[in-house]
Amino acid sequence: MKECRHVAIIMDGNGRWAQAQGLPRTAGHLAGSDNVRTIAIAASDLGIQYLTLYAFSTENWKRSENEVNYIMKLPAVFFKKYMQEFLDRGYRMNILGELDELPKATHRVLQDAMDESKNNTGLNLNICMNYGSQREILLAAKHYAKDVQEGKADLSLDEKGFEKYLMTAGFPPVDLLIRTSGEQRISNYLLWQIAYAELEFVPEAWPAFTPEVFQKCITEYQTRDRRFGGVKNV
Ligand code: IPE
Ligand code: IPE
Ligand code: MG
Repeated sequence: MKECRHVAIIMDGNGRWAQAQGLPRTAGHLAGSDNVRTIAIAASDLGIQYLTLYAFSTENWKRSENEVNYIMKLPAVFFKKYMQEFLDRGYRMNILGELDELPKATHRVLQDAMDESKNNTGLNLNICMNYGSQREILLAAKHYAKDVQEGKADLSLDEKGFEKYLMTAGFPPVDLLIRTSGEQRISNYLLWQIAYAELEFVPEAWPAFTPEVFQKCITEYQTRDRRFGGVKNV
């Protein structure tokens, strides 16, 4: 079995999924948030150690006020329903993104989820909220520059050293990136971390991405020949 420690998912298609059923886009976000629990359990059962989910991008502020407000209130609803179960299952919540720019109440709920689960050693459930990868890399570069200025770092920095400045510090690289809902693009997600990830694009919308579809993605991943720039093993 090929190791698959870190899976990242671009959870796309909530809005279209809802609209196809005559429901408002927000109904898709609610169903999508419930599916986070389902897929987190499936990931943990599959032995995946890091599941990194794209929930809201730095570009998603362009959406209607109504939709953005709804999404900002979802973490409170989500953790009220599922946090105890996550704690019982030993999951550790990590939130990636610029949390300071979120509404205060949203920020607090996310910070609490991290604090309450920080000693857990099971699945790392990473949720990217107000996350953009270019911004992440830029912030990392600024932080490094400041460290150099203050004499805390020097120009011998290598790739491993730079990774410590990213929001994913301490996580292994992404092995598999899945995007739901048929779109074949990265949308400013984990640009550094997916350098050698296997990519899979599935037609199912995120609320319809079941553990069975997830299992199929992992089975497909197992057929991939990861060479990392080397020569095929024969
Ligand atoms: C993904 O679903 C969730 C977010 C980006 C917040 P979308 O809301 O993008 O759904 P579609 O792609 O418009 O169907
Ligand atoms: C990417 O989906 C962001 C999230 C899933 C949170 P989008 O729906 O925002 O991406 P584009 O606009 O189709 O590229
Ligand atoms: Mg979308």
